[in-house]
Amino acid sequence: MRILFVVGARPNFMKIAPIMREMAKYHSEFEQILVHTGQHYDANMSQLFFDELDLPRPDLNLEVGSGSHAWQTAQVMLGFEPVLLNYRPDWVLVPGDVNSTLACTLVASKLGFNLAHVEAGLRSFDRTMPEEINRLLTDQLADLLFTPSRDADENLLREGIPLKKIHFVGNLMIDTLVRLLPMAEVRWPVMRARFGLDHYLLVTLHRPSNVDDPNMLAEIMVALAEISRQVRVIFPMHPRTRSRIVSLDLSLPTDNLLLIEPLGYMDFLALETHASLVLTDSGGVQEETTYLGVPCLTVRPNTERPVTIMSGTNRLVAGKRGTLVRSVLERLNEGARQAAANIHRPEFWDGKASNRLMRILFKTT
Ligand code: UD1
Ligand code: UDP
Repeated sequence: MRILFVVGARPNFMKIAPIMREMAKYHSEFEQILVHTGQHYDANMSQLFFDELDLPRPDLNLEVGSGSHAWQTAQVMLGFEPVLLNYRPDWVLVPGDVNSTLACTLVASKLGFNLAHVEAGLRSFDRTMPEEINRLLTDQLADLLFTPSRDADENLLREGIPLKKIHFVGNLMIDTLVRLLPMAEVRWPVMRARFGLDHYLLVTLHRPSNVDDPNMLAEIMVALAEISRQVRVIFPMHPRTRSRIVSLDLSLPTDNLLLIEPLGYMDFLALETHASLVLTDSGGVQEETTYLGVPCLTVRPNTERPVTIMSGTNRLVAGKRGTLVRSVLERLNEGARQAAANIHRPEFWDGKASNRLMRILFKTT
């Protein structure tokens, strides 16, 4: 069976790597093709993860780069169409909710190829998010929908997707975490010494709603500076965020507010595991902190990952200076790291999602 995998942006790598590893164990059954759209291209947003996650070199890189939504989506579509016609796979697998996901979905469905969506069914019910549009359309077009949690199944059924297309397999990103956590632990002493970390707040932000609005970003940066008077803050900046911070001249780094480049997977996971608290707007980071039992505040009015709230680790917070400072300090005072035995992990977030997915794909064909 010939499977064509699509990756484009940072969070895609963690979701596709475990599936490719699992299928590689049965190499006589599966022929794997990996296509990178090139949506993310900086070494620390792309190549680094190929090395760390043992992803094979892509068979092809479409090298689309950055642009407006329409431009980027169109470039991926134009680049992907001849590739698909050339390889003619039995299945196309697209992960997540980025522009590359939707672009390849549109091409594959119109050409009549079988399409499977990895991480189907998540909904924020907020159509101002580009990702929500990408998810809704991808799920409508996919032939097989692999979901990470039960709420995703319910969302899909409500939207009229036939039950037989929906398969609850669990969280693929957690497969990668489970495998690499021991190696991240090895990195911890190095990271701890390099950044002088003990009791600290780890921050990641990249949603346009937080970082593209100058007033919003200013509120957040002033709040972080204030928080850093009480606790060390480490903020690996996504390139979108870094360029906004630089152009608005909002970088107020102090000895206790560390604005750094994006980290590799293992180094970032080490910091996540040992953080007193995480402040984020990332989908993947909400999930990883839930698995790790690390308290997390999500700077958003909603989340497409309600299980992270139900598990008790994640809470939503408004991006207002006063609210942010108060919420962070309160949560830190709760001293709320969960003991390993008390962590309530969502069903099938267990490192075995890729095996379930592979078996279903094999049976379906
Ligand atoms: C994209 C996804 C988002 C996902 C995020 C993961 C869409 C619509 N958004 O957002 O869902 O959560 O990836 O990180 O697909 N840039 C670089 N170097 C790079 C990549 C990007 O400098 O390697 C800069 C460029 O200025 C670019 C900007 O970041 O314009 C945004 O990149 P883009 O891929 O369009 O969106 P993200 O914000 O990364
Ligand atoms: N991540 C990383 N280095 C960083 C920040 C995040 O390796 O500096 C990892 C994180 O552990 C998770 C993934 O990137 O596995 C999340 O990607 P991102 O936040 O870019 O996208 P989202 O999940 O919001 O779509």
